[in-house]
Amino acid sequence: MKKLIITITMVMTMMLALPYSAANAVDSLRGNFDLDKQIKKSDKSLKKKKLLKQAGGFERNYEQQPPLIPHSIEKDKITLKGNTCMKCHSAKNYEKEKAPKAGDSHYETRDGKTLKKVSARRYFCNQCHVPQLDANPLVQNNF
Ligand code: HEC
Ligand code: HEC
Repeated sequence: MKKLIITITMVMTMMLALPYSAANAVDSLRGNFDLDKQIKKSDKSLKKKKLLKQAGGFERNYEQQPPLIPHSIEKDKITLKGNTCMKCHSAKNYEKEKAPKAGDSHYETRDGKTLKKVSARRYFCNQCHVPQLDANPLVQNNF
């Protein structure tokens, strides 16, 4: 009896493991590369690419799109202690810096309360806003 239970448990474990080995055969859209190696390679090739700057900003593709960043953000830092984007984009500084003001939505909490400082849910700017490089997309799409 004991042997039978052990055998059944073993067969069941093998059956459970089967789908996982099959998952290895799925191809990733970026190709079957070693992730670490590919990061190093794309870091190098990205450094060669030109940052796209756009006076007056990039045209938006749809309503409510977070606008693309038309300037370099290499020197900017977003940490727990501070956010250098707001040196130019805050309600306090934008006029002096001739920069567009981060929209009113950026000062609202999720309950619709308006804060004096940028809301925590808009704090990490590059979660939504990104600069553009003169590079071909890795994966084509026709959105
Ligand atoms: C030194 C000032 C300065 C800093 C720092 C700065 N920006 Fe800007 N930003 C500008 C100016 C000026 C423009 C307008 C450029 C133009 O329209 O030609 C702009 C434009 C933008 C736009 C486009 C807005 C639109 O409506 O098209 C976005 C988005 C943006 N910045 C995000 C950021 C983010 C995110 C950071 C931090 C990572 C940042 N900026 C840091 C000055 C700054
Ligand atoms: C959760 C996504 C999200 C985050 C995070 C975010 N934004 Fe935005 N941002 C948007 C969207 C969507 C818009 C366009 C609609 C609007 O103004 O709310 C926008 C608009 C803007 C504009 C243009 C405003 C205008 O009137 O043309 C600026 C400048 C900007 N954001 C700067 C920032 C900065 C600086 C930060 C970080 C402190 C930030 N955003 C964080 C989504 C985001």
